[in-house]
Amino acid sequence: MRVSIICVLILGFFSHCLCDRLNLVGTNNNIFNVMQYGAHGDGKTDDAQAFLRAWNSTCAAQGSATLVIPANKIFLVTNLLFNGGDCKATSINIKLQGNIVAPSKEAWKDTSHWINIEYINGLTIDGTNTGGLDGHGSTWWPCKTCPRPVVLSFHSCNKLNVNGLRISNSPGAHISINGCDGATFSNVLVNSPGTSPNTDGFDISSSKNILIKDSTIHAGDDCIAINGGSSYINATNVACGPGHGISIGSLGKGKSHEEVEEVHVKNCSFTDTTNGARIKTFPGGSGFARKITFEQIQLTNVKNAIIIDQHYGIKIDAESAVQVSDVTYQGFSGTGAGDLAINLNCESCLNIVLNKISIVPSQPKTQLHTICKNFHGTITSTVPKVTCS
Ligand SMILES: *[C@@H]1O[C@H](CO)[C@@H](O)[C@H](O)[C@H]1NC(C)=O
Ligand SMILES: *[C@@H]1O[C@H](CO)[C@@H](O)[C@H](O)[C@H]1NC(C)=O
Ligand SMILES: *[C@@H]1O[C@H](CO)[C@@H](O)[C@H](O)[C@H]1NC(C)=O
Repeated sequence: MRVSIICVLILGFFSHCLCDRLNLVGTNNNIFNVMQYGAHGDGKTDDAQAFLRAWNSTCAAQGSATLVIPANKIFLVTNLLFNGGDCKATSINIKLQGNIVAPSKEAWKDTSHWINIEYINGLTIDGTNTGGLDGHGSTWWPCKTCPRPVVLSFHSCNKLNVNGLRISNSPGAHISINGCDGATFSNVLVNSPGTSPNTDGFDISSSKNILIKDSTIHAGDDCIAINGGSSYINATNVACGPGHGISIGSLGKGKSHEEVEEVHVKNCSFTDTTNGARIKTFPGGSGFARKITFEQIQLTNVKNAIIIDQHYGIKIDAESAVQVSDVTYQGFSGTGAGDLAINLNCESCLNIVLNKISIVPSQPKTQLHTICKNFHGTITSTVPKVTCS
């Protein structure tokens, strides 16, 4: 207790954290610094084992425990798995103040994920604007046929809270959320080039009660992808672009049955993205995407600002389709690029509402078009004008 009070006092005067050193001498209050466990932080030595030893102590602590990855250091780690299944600690906080970097492609041990966090309830991760995760994706991107790993994967983590995380250059998706109930991500910065392949910002599946807010996503694929088995997913105050927009699906691939409901996207912006609000389903699938709202959306030079594509992947006519229903697009304004501003390419659409949509061309002397097929719903105050067939 006394040490932490001293730390707080000292921190008030010095920008460098002397706590690290104090911890090295031994005393701590359930604070486990990776440096105590042999991490080098030199950006060259593989610190994965040190991280795992520190994780083991954090996990085994009584009460609440904190794992510290200190500032002003670069930690090279190969793969990490933090499994909370057998933890004694009742709540765990990870303070990510330094930088964690991935090795180049050849040195990866697990090519599906880099940092895996699973079976932890009540985990909080606090980042800072100095540190973060760098997936060294540039060594992967040229390989078009490689299955590209996810940088940070959460599986079966309930009551998760991630704040201030910076994550860049992922080989594949930046953050994957699977099988989680209750997660808030705020002030997250995802940063990869628009040309980097398959680098989704967030990839959500089989999860519920997820909120992404006050965040910025620059990616080479979907800013947020919401996949099957997900419900009560909100995105608020998110700036997306470059990227492929916020996507529900694709759903129904390989005739699968998939369900997504209660998705609410509010006060988000799209800048230079290839899509804005997108729902995509494969012909032949079943299930639904329903109770979805996109509102207060600012557009800058966006292709396909509103798109429902029920012929995703294949263009064939199939007997079944994932049903898209109760979807509202309200309050879209700004500029569109390309040909199409609104594409409602439906197969099974019910109660789709477009209201107060105003999209003008970003380039002078160009025109924006719309497509609307098999549509059931209402369209009011919408520019460009939508005519359904
Ligand atoms: C962490 O704990 C697990 C389970 O107790 C053990 O198998 C593993 O070897 C430990 N890892 C390290 C790096 O100490
Ligand atoms: C998600 O958005 C809906 C609709 O705006 C709102 O009713 C709900 O409270 C939001 N949930 C969270 C966790 O933000
Ligand atoms: C909308 O989002 C922007 C930035 O993303 C933020 O500055 C603004 O406060 C938000 N507005 C509301 C009403 O939440």
